Amino acid sequence: MTTVIKNKHIVLGVCGGIAAYKSVELLRLLKKQGANVRVIMTENAGAFVGPLTFEALSGEPVCSSLFEQSFDASIRHIDWAEASDAVIIAPATANIVGKLANGIADDALSTFMLAVTCPVGICPSMNTHMYENRAVKRNLETLRNDGYFVIEPDAGELACGTTGPGRLPEPEDIVDRLLKMLTIKDMRDKKVLVTAGPTWEAIDPVRFIANPSSGKMGYALARAAEYRGGDVTLISGPANIPDPLNVNVVRIKTAQEMAQAVFEHMEDCHIIIKAAAVSDYRPKEKEKHKIKKDNDEMIIDLIKNQDILKELGKRKKDQILVGFAAETRDLEINAGKKLKEKNLDIIAGNLVGDSSSGFGTDTNKVTLFFKDGKKESIPEMEKNEVAHLLLDRILERVG
Ligand code: PMT
Repeated sequence: MTTVIKNKHIVLGVCGGIAAYKSVELLRLLKKQGANVRVIMTENAGAFVGPLTFEALSGEPVCSSLFEQSFDASIRHIDWAEASDAVIIAPATANIVGKLANGIADDALSTFMLAVTCPVGICPSMNTHMYENRAVKRNLETLRNDGYFVIEPDAGELACGTTGPGRLPEPEDIVDRLLKMLTIKDMRDKKVLVTAGPTWEAIDPVRFIANPSSGKMGYALARAAEYRGGDVTLISGPANIPDPLNVNVVRIKTAQEMAQAVFEHMEDCHIIIKAAAVSDYRPKEKEKHKIKKDNDEMIIDLIKNQDILKELGKRKKDQILVGFAAETRDLEINAGKKLKEKNLDIIAGNLVGDSSSGFGTDTNKVTLFFKDGKKESIPEMEKNEVAHLLLDRILERVG
């Protein structure tokens, strides 16, 4: 998502750990998202990655000493603290965690941190035994209580040879958590159910009926709701997208499996959004073995799948129900019909088959149709921006 990072002033703090090499990639990703990034390094970080690398990638001078002064002779670490919208320390060693928990300021980074007033993300990264050390745990707890956003390390084999928690998460995941940190939590008390992706209806063991849905729209919705503090379940058809962090992901293949998973999870959800492209029909019989190409023609009998959304419309209690309509023509007529027939609160109509909206694209162009007859045409934008806009409209209706 570009919305909360673009044009923001972010300070990346880098400490002396083997994972410091990953902060180079983190810096690159932040710059790619349009952030202005400045780097403050500890002296030990310089043993792992040179300041020149960070300088070249950020286009800004790197601060590594408390006694450096910027051009106008103002104090750089104080200037930067006042100008920053967010700070991320990655990797954060046990040393900086201990200093921050105890208000110690004895180098550029720790001194800068005492002057910071914006949101701060801390990515602890160290040997597993160090991470599990009681003092480190206590210090991390102090940081959480002080309002720092602690991003849990990954578990796995570490550079030191031990296996367990302590590994710096991948830069993409750190950016994702940074986005969460900076997003307003207006869905904190909301349980959200999202469906995404296609369904696969088997013809024989090697063939199936499907559609080009990539899952991008539904995953963007699940991610956006999670960033906003929602408790999110994502029911996904086959999609080549990693599980969004902190989301309960249920992977299914067929429309029948999707129906079962949706009905299992729908009960206590406040908001249900069906972005999945569910096959309307499935083969009546699934052949046990691969069908041979002996005939010039072949007829496959299909039967109708249950309309999951329509059934949800019947069962709906005090819930907001949102559908998507994928159309190739007459968007308003067709989407309006589905809105009524399925008892929805909102339907997002999108024309599919376009190079910038619908299936597989990173952008979408939707028109929202509301139960009260109102309509809102949204210009082409990134799917994650469409997701946030749709959530805004949903929240206006939840009250
Ligand atoms: O996944 P992407 O590549 O990002 O593409 C996004 C998208 C184009 C798939 C998405 O934006 C979209 O339009 N999703 C709905 C696709 C669809 O199935 O539309 P429909 O008009 O056929 O169905 C209307 C609604 O009924 C949908 O919410 C659908 O989930 C639901 N439905 C349909 C059939 C069925 N048997 N059960 C259902 O619940």
